Amino acid sequence: MRTDRVRAAERERVAQQTLPPGAYDFYAAGSGEEVSADEAASAWRTYRLLPRILRDVSHVDTSVELLGASLASPVLAAPSAFHLMAHPEGEVATAKGVAEAGSLMIVSSRGTRRIEDVAAAIGLAPWWYQVYVLRDRDHTVRQVERAVAAGAQALVLTVDAPYVAVKPRVRLPLPLPADDELAWSVGLDGRTADREQDPSLGPDAIAWLRRVSGLPVLVKGVLRADDARACVDAGAAGLVVSNHGGRQLDRTVSTARALPAVADAVGEAVPILVDGGIHTGTDVLTALALGARAVLVGRPVLWALAAGGADGVRELFDGYRAELTEAMALAGAPAVADLDRGLVADEVGVAGPGRPASPRPVREAGG
Ligand SMILES: Cc1cc2nc3c(=O)[nH]c(=O)nc-3n(C[C@H](O)[C@H](O)[C@H](O)COP(=O)(O)O)c2cc1C
Repeated sequence: MRTDRVRAAERERVAQQTLPPGAYDFYAAGSGEEVSADEAASAWRTYRLLPRILRDVSHVDTSVELLGASLASPVLAAPSAFHLMAHPEGEVATAKGVAEAGSLMIVSSRGTRRIEDVAAAIGLAPWWYQVYVLRDRDHTVRQVERAVAAGAQALVLTVDAPYVAVKPRVRLPLPLPADDELAWSVGLDGRTADREQDPSLGPDAIAWLRRVSGLPVLVKGVLRADDARACVDAGAAGLVVSNHGGRQLDRTVSTARALPAVADAVGEAVPILVDGGIHTGTDVLTALALGARAVLVGRPVLWALAAGGADGVRELFDGYRAELTEAMALAGAPAVADLDRGLVADEVGVAGPGRPASPRPVREAGG
């Protein structure tokens, strides 16, 4: 299964027909007027590329090393809540598909299957655990301890949600089965207030989580260069440039446009990941050329899960990899280290349609 735009739209359409309407709306929704959710994908398409010619691209290698994990391609599964609404096996099916494709799943702390069962489905492949720090810190510690015991290799601390934004499209209650694990993870056990995210969180949460878990902590939800630097200073092992798929503050800058400034601010200090509207291999190539080490995909995984279960998820990631391979070959970049700013026209002073030309330093990576 390829992932290009037509097929991405088709996958969403099939999922929409398969899913109960309440579930589809919950997954698809953005906050506010859905401006950020709507423009995420088109923002990647505003960049224009400057391919290199006469490079030996007879072998193209999409593999990457990320915080000690060896991955077949730089496309990861973003953390997303409530997979049970998309498939009876929920996160377990997602995990199988992602692992079979040689990719990495960031398991949401708002999961709907036991973390131990998700870990078992992943087997020996690496996975990371996404954390919200809740008002009830003891509960957060218990969640993290379970994830560490189950084998998580890093934590991803989501910081763009001090409060959960209103999504006008979402109608409660969600079509979720009554389930003990769900009650425990989401706080549907009558303890809702202290299971909400702690809105007083500061940068010291990064070092705290590291201490509690003994794992590297990435910070997800970075859009600004100053915040990026502050997170690195506070001990972040990596950053995810994200606006939560347009589900928190609406009208934030697109991640496609936020990424270059964050990459410039951080340099090679820690790996930068990015998500939001990444639907094709050329989107992935553009993100890596602009300074990301890897990308995350959110809704496409949910659509693939709803339509095809674990097989659908594996095919989705295989599709991204096939498209990235083709895009890299045509761009004259046999390895991901060859993807640099020099490939992006408006980043090197040749105006694309997205914005006026503004010369930027070209980072030469791998010649
Ligand atoms: C239905 C849904 C649930 C999500 N749940 C979480 C979550 O539990 N934790 C988190 O950090 N991000 C969550 N996100 C945000 C994703 O991790 C990611 O940032 C976003 O989906 C990327 O955009 P994309 O869907 O266009 O790929 C969720 C997104 C969606 C669509």
